[in-house]
Amino acid sequence: MTVQNIQKGEVLPRHLAIIMDGNGRWAQQRGEIRVKGHKEGANAVYRIVKHSALIGINTLTLFAFSSENWKRPITEVNALMELFAFSLKKEAKELHQNNIKVRIIGDKSKFSKSLQKSISYIEELTSNNSAMTLNIAANYGGRADITKAFIDIAKEIESGNLSSLDIDEALIQKNLYEPLDVDLLIRTGGEKRISNFLLWQVAYAEIFVTDTLWPDFDIKDIDEALDFFSKRERRFGMTSSQIKEQK
Ligand code: IPE
Ligand code: IPE
Ligand code: MG
Repeated sequence: MTVQNIQKGEVLPRHLAIIMDGNGRWAQQRGEIRVKGHKEGANAVYRIVKHSALIGINTLTLFAFSSENWKRPITEVNALMELFAFSLKKEAKELHQNNIKVRIIGDKSKFSKSLQKSISYIEELTSNNSAMTLNIAANYGGRADITKAFIDIAKEIESGNLSSLDIDEALIQKNLYEPLDVDLLIRTGGEKRISNFLLWQVAYAEIFVTDTLWPDFDIKDIDEALDFFSKRERRFGMTSSQIKEQK
């Protein structure tokens, strides 16, 4: 999707979420170790973040490391942690200059103290930025997200600030790491599954799966996904004619 298309009124997703999959296969196809694919994947992240901000995406959530990815070989986990720390340090200034607000969503307590420091630094530095919110989902799980929301609500009830009668969908949603519904979910690498990503938030997301592996994911691929999105009729349970009447 080009800036011109958007000016023509094509609908953009307010919240774009991406499962960045296929780094390992990208490397293996080249006879390289998997970590090489993760490094190349980091370059795709920079490209896509910049482009998303440019075209006016409100919130971009990237799945960088799942709560289940700790099960991988320790060498790969360590390399991913190092790459994460390195990328945060390297990009902090530029993200800030581009007015992007960066948040890390997921359980940060499992990260090393120095990584937690880098995370706090970038989150504080960019906290008042307004061009786009970039959520990096790291040690993130959709079920853990919902469980945390329940725990936070339970604490509020225990302290007397809330009653169980206050519990409704809006309250649960408000307590998620990212309360915004996902409009468009992209998964690279061809697998047609959610892998415990934003389970609650994808309730009515449009889903675009591409065989392109994440390190190869380029502007033309995201444009293809955005074109797909702009042509969808989102019915939210209604009939097609009801939707047309609303327009
Ligand atoms: C996604 O790529 C990156 C992470 C999960 C950290 P993979 O590493 O899962 O790549 P494939 O799926 O094995 O190709
Ligand atoms: C999902 O990819 C997690 C990230 C992209 C960070 P995985 O490669 O971990 O997913 P599965 O294991 O194939 O479902
Ligand atoms: Mg994978």
